[in-house]
Amino acid sequence: LWTADNIIEDSVHAVRRKVGSDRVILGLSGGVDSSVVAALLHEAIGDQLTCVFVDTGLLRLHEGDQVMATFAEHMGVRVIRVDAEQRYLEALQGVADPEQKRKIIGNLFVEIFDEEAAKLADAKWLAQGTIYPDVIESAGAKSGKAHLIKSHHNVGGLPENMTLKLLEPLRELFKDEVRKLGLELGLPYEMVFRHPFPGPGLGVRILGEVKKDYADLLRQADAIFIEELYRRQLYEKVSQAFAVFLPVKSVGVMGDGRRYDYVIALRAVETIDFMTARWAHLPYDFLDLVSRRIINEVSGISRVTYDISGKPPATIEWE
Ligand code: XMP
Repeated sequence: LWTADNIIEDSVHAVRRKVGSDRVILGLSGGVDSSVVAALLHEAIGDQLTCVFVDTGLLRLHEGDQVMATFAEHMGVRVIRVDAEQRYLEALQGVADPEQKRKIIGNLFVEIFDEEAAKLADAKWLAQGTIYPDVIESAGAKSGKAHLIKSHHNVGGLPENMTLKLLEPLRELFKDEVRKLGLELGLPYEMVFRHPFPGPGLGVRILGEVKKDYADLLRQADAIFIEELYRRQLYEKVSQAFAVFLPVKSVGVMGDGRRYDYVIALRAVETIDFMTARWAHLPYDFLDLVSRRIINEVSGISRVTYDISGKPPATIEWE
């Protein structure tokens, strides 16, 4: 019988039988899948689990702190937080090409994760949040971008000589089942029902070269957009919503003064499978409110636009 309760009980026993008293490491991203794995393994083996959370500096507002609060403080999970913002910014300096940025971000993630794994020399297992659709996808032929998505998410680039055995407790589950498990394991509702967030993070939502100032402006604008979506109960009506930073300057007025500042694009889509999508027809008064708040509250932004492109021909992300 499929109940979250039963699945958890079975998985907990299976994990214990498999790993015994071995140490397990997990790359925790704060996304649904790795979060549920963390909660499940914590339930099964407690302190034998060590999570590595890489703060790339390309996360959303307060995201790193929230991940630490949920897992380390609240649940007592062992989490190593690696503050890698500086390394990411340096690696991305002068790089404008989207695929190049993806490669740099993905490779650096693997590099940092390896460094941390090497410090946990007695670890025997590498846990991953692979779910059933990932298994099917990897089996079929995949295009460049999809391959990168997987390789980043699943830490697929770990070196051959890595002797860790793979532990994938969600391998047979669909997304909705993973979510039910997450709730049952006590993860916060917002974490379990979060929109997808790409592995390269804000790195592909800042068009062209990534800079800290841009990331800070984008984080503020994005947080306002998401906060208002929740407040108006629109968050769950759309499949994915976010702000994009456009590194072009536009003229505006504020009080008696003239401004010459950056532009933010808002993106919200409705989709079942993320292969095709329609732009969400958000209410005008809602968009008006979000636009006003961003321009008034985020100094450095003088203009807000709403993306009305479908997929195809556009993609969901801007890069
Ligand atoms: P696109 O932009 O291709 O996005 O229409 C489809 C879905 O995939 C996500 N996405 C990514 N996820 N690494 C990821 O982990 C990536 O490089 C990446 N690029 C796009 C995007 O957020 C959307 O949900």
